[in-house]
Formats: sequence, structure tokens, C-alpha cells
Amino acid sequence: MYKLFSPITFKQVTLKNRIVMSPMCMYSCESENGTVQPFHITHYESRAAGQVGLVMVEATAVQPEGRISTRDLGIWSDDHIQGLKQISDRVHAHGAKSSIQLAHAGRKAELETIHAPSSIRFNENYQTPKEMTVEDIEETIISFKRGAQRAKEAGFDIIEIHGAHGYLINQFLSPLTNHRNDQYGGSKENRYRLLSEIIDRVKEEWDGPIFVRISTNEYNAEGNSLDDITYFAKRMKEQGIDLIDCSSGGVVPATISAYPGYQVPAAEKIKQKVTIATGAVGLITSGIQAEEIIQNNRADLIFVARALLRNPYWSKAAADELGYSLDAPKQYIRGWKN
Ligand code: FNR
Repeated sequence: MYKLFSPITFKQVTLKNRIVMSPMCMYSCESENGTVQPFHITHYESRAAGQVGLVMVEATAVQPEGRISTRDLGIWSDDHIQGLKQISDRVHAHGAKSSIQLAHAGRKAELETIHAPSSIRFNENYQTPKEMTVEDIEETIISFKRGAQRAKEAGFDIIEIHGAHGYLINQFLSPLTNHRNDQYGGSKENRYRLLSEIIDRVKEEWDGPIFVRISTNEYNAEGNSLDDITYFAKRMKEQGIDLIDCSSGGVVPATISAYPGYQVPAAEKIKQKVTIATGAVGLITSGIQAEEIIQNNRADLIFVARALLRNPYWSKAAADELGYSLDAPKQYIRGWKN
């Protein structure tokens, strides 16, 4: 049995295989209200039909001011629940599980008024953010909690908190972007406080699996090291997080040399050092490459992004490559009606 196609259980949720559709913003809301469009349903359903184990809906804003663009999906209002439920239902119809990435862009929002831990802009193409007050921080934490409550009503199986790519949570975690001298800045534990409080408040509404995506490398000598990130991962384990989704970059402008599986060593190190499930992502494009990562216990899930944009049936292609017989979707099997 190929491990890539073996099931895995997080709390009460069993995924049929280890392949995850990685979250990808589609910037496809028609108006500025963040509601699901027919495109989103087709887009996510087709990857479920293509036999990924878990479909993860793109970064979805917990507050309107937390959007990257005005065309982002939102989960800041009850009006969003119905559309999101349609995605989740259509994903379930194909035997996949559904998840959603809860997000706040912070200083990387391309909007008029933007917020961040400190008043430092990303680069000259971005606005200078307003430094968040403790009240702003509390409001944001509550927005994540409300987002989790709505995700539950929409029928999602798993939540991922977006703590990577230089968005708001990552801005608090990194000493490069967090220059605060209150309880939310300074020491590692203080920089972790926002994420810690978000996790605690989300758990008040959500008893299912929670993943967190983090940037394991900030590509800057003054930024968090992999040891610092491992410390955060230990804290997340203590708080009951089910999986760390190991990405990198986006905190400050940097040149990244990306090559096949370039983020896998971080997923492997965190998995071994913290004894927590990890997700590997980034230029994982073939079945053999994905199988090696799972087989050698370097990560528990494989997140696939661009390869799944190119081919919604990437799982089938990976199975064919490994010589594994993936008889699905059932409609595609000759004579299935019999
Ligand atoms: C992304 N990525 C991304 N990541 C994330 O955490 N939330 C998001 O909403 C998005 N949005 C997004 C949109 C598009 C069009 C792309 C291509 C990527 C990053 C993505 O999930 C993944 O981490 C990277 O693309 C690396 O994986 P691949 O593409 O090499 O498999």
C-alpha cells in the first residue's frame, strides 16, 4: 500500500489520502462583499472529484479590513455561510473532506486603511499601516472566533489558521515586523501571544481539527530562525493544534531560491523535534516525490497548489505514476452503474 493513498485521522476527521489542495486565493468575488460565486464552487468541487483527500478553501478574511484585495472571500458576516456551505457540501459529495483557511492580511492588505502590529510598511507599493491598539487586537481575535463559528455552520471539517507569508499573525510572530513594547511584542512568548489567544478563542467554538500554516524561514538573518519557529510549534502543540503546515517567506521582501521540495526539510525537522504532524508544501509535483516524503516520515500531508491548478486530477496522475490503482471517481469506471 502506498502511504500517499493511506488514510489519516485528525480528531474525528479521517482523510482518505494524504493529498491536500493547498489554499489558493482566487480573487474571484464579483462585488466587494466576499461572497462565494459559482466559479468557487466549480473550482473546489473539481479538485474533490479529482480525488484529493482534503480541499482547503483559500485565505478567507475574518474582517473586511483583513482582505488582501476587495475580491477576497470573506467569513466576517453570517451572509457568507450559505455560499461556503455550498462549497463544503459539493466537496463532501466526492468523498473529500473540506477545510477553510481563516486569514487576516494585516499590513499586506491592498486597501485604504490597514492595520499591523507596528507602523512599518512592507515596501513602497504598500500603505503604511496603523499600529493596532490592544482593542484592535481583541476585536481581531474575536473575528477569528466568529469565523470559526461560521466555518462550523458551513459544515467544514477542518480549520487552518493562516500564520504564514507575512500576513497579520506572521507580522506579530516576526521581530522584523513586530516592534511593539507591550505584551504583544518583544520576547518570543509575547510575539506568540496573538496566535495563542486566537487559538484559545477559536477552540471555544470549534472542537474539530485545527491546522496552522507558518513561514518556517523568513529569509532574513534578523528574522525568526527555524529554532524560533520550532519553539512556536511546541507552543502550538501544547495548545492542541493538530498539524503545522510548513511554508516559508513573505514576511519581508526577499529573494527565495525555490527548488523541488525546498520546504520539506523544515516540515521534517518540526515533525521530529516537536512530535507533531506536519504538512509539506512547495514544488511537490510528482507522485514519487510525494510518496517519498510520506514514506520516510518527513511529513504527514502533502499540500499541492499549482500542480492542482494545472491538473485537477493530479491525484489520479500521481497514482498512475506509482502504479497504484485509484478507481475513482466511480462514474469514470467503465460500467460502474452495474
Ligand atoms: C497561493 N498560496 C497561498 N497560500 C496560502 O497559505 N493561502 C492562500 O490563499 C494562497 N494563495 C495562493 C494563490 C495562488 C494562485 C498560488 C499559486 C499560491 C501558496 C500555495 O498554497 C502554496 O503554498 C505555494 O503555491 C507552493 O506550493 P506549489 O504551488 O509549489 O505546490
